[in-house]
Amino acid sequence: MAQTILAQRLAQQGVKEVPERFIKPIAERPASQLSSPNHSRGSVPVIDLAGLQGGSRQHTMAQIDEACQDWGFFQVVNHGIPSSLLQLVKDVGRDFFELPFEEKQKCAMKPGEILGYGRHYQQAENAVLDWVDCLLHYVSPTSLRDEENTWPAKPPNYREVMDAYAKELQKLISLLLALFSENLGLPSTYLEEAFGEFSLAFRVNYYPPCPQPNLVMGISPHSDSGCITFLIQDEIDGLQVRKNGNWVTVEPLADGLVVNVADMLQVITNGRYVSVEHRALVNNVKERMSIVGFYLPSTEALISPAATLTDKTHPALYRATKYGDYLSTYMKKPLAGKAHVESLSLQDK
Ligand code: SIN
Ligand code: FE2
Repeated sequence: MAQTILAQRLAQQGVKEVPERFIKPIAERPASQLSSPNHSRGSVPVIDLAGLQGGSRQHTMAQIDEACQDWGFFQVVNHGIPSSLLQLVKDVGRDFFELPFEEKQKCAMKPGEILGYGRHYQQAENAVLDWVDCLLHYVSPTSLRDEENTWPAKPPNYREVMDAYAKELQKLISLLLALFSENLGLPSTYLEEAFGEFSLAFRVNYYPPCPQPNLVMGISPHSDSGCITFLIQDEIDGLQVRKNGNWVTVEPLADGLVVNVADMLQVITNGRYVSVEHRALVNNVKERMSIVGFYLPSTEALISPAATLTDKTHPALYRATKYGDYLSTYMKKPLAGKAHVESLSLQDK
């Protein structure tokens, strides 16, 4: 098996220069003209879900609708998940990455696989590598969970904490999908039913400090493949979303949870909600972590624009796709901005 090049190992060895494999072409580096001079900070919408109760419901619903249309990305506060639990999720993620390499290797990805501990799925032979290590595993359904091979046994509270978090997320996704459906004028169970039986996968991303952060990407620009993604980030800047050609930093909020529209929600809403390109940068001072929860449609679900969102003046913009087929193509190719979802477009190029 070819030796996996792990960013954390390189950082621990104290390398002063990043290996060639991580160096991005000039146009794809963080400071290429796309990110400066127009880089701005902190304007991704922050939505207070407490507003759903009482007199401000309509206003909050409108904020959610606008965020999904204009940004495809927002943070929620007062989302119902206790901050102590969010903190525990960050703690167990960090505790895992602080374990000795040999211990982490116990749940290492098998050759050619993407689940477990190792590099994230950018495996193409000559692809430039991102400066990140990860731990990826399914939570549900049971048939995909593979606790034995892909979940760590240490820290000892990892499983309990992640399962408690998954339970809370489940409530939040049901709520958000019902609200999205309502905003779209669809029956409240429409989206949840259209996606079929969900899978939930967690990815803990660990970005060690990097000696040459301006030459690399933590995670290259991409949009997510599934329905909705939830992201917890620590207090270190790094996540950016692309908005009108600029990269905007998603400011870390202690109790905030980042929510983003993923490709299948864009397809089903016929482009009303957008799955936005995002990326993660690294720095040379401090490691950064994020814990990502991916809600994915059933691999059997046939995803196509909702009939009530298409008519003569709004023709279907995307062809139907079986999610399992979409996912396997997505996984085989390097991260490439919005190229995957655009490949479903029915519009003339
Ligand atoms: C991701 O897009 O999966 C990760 C972004 C982040 O670490 O903030
Ligand atoms: Fe992502």
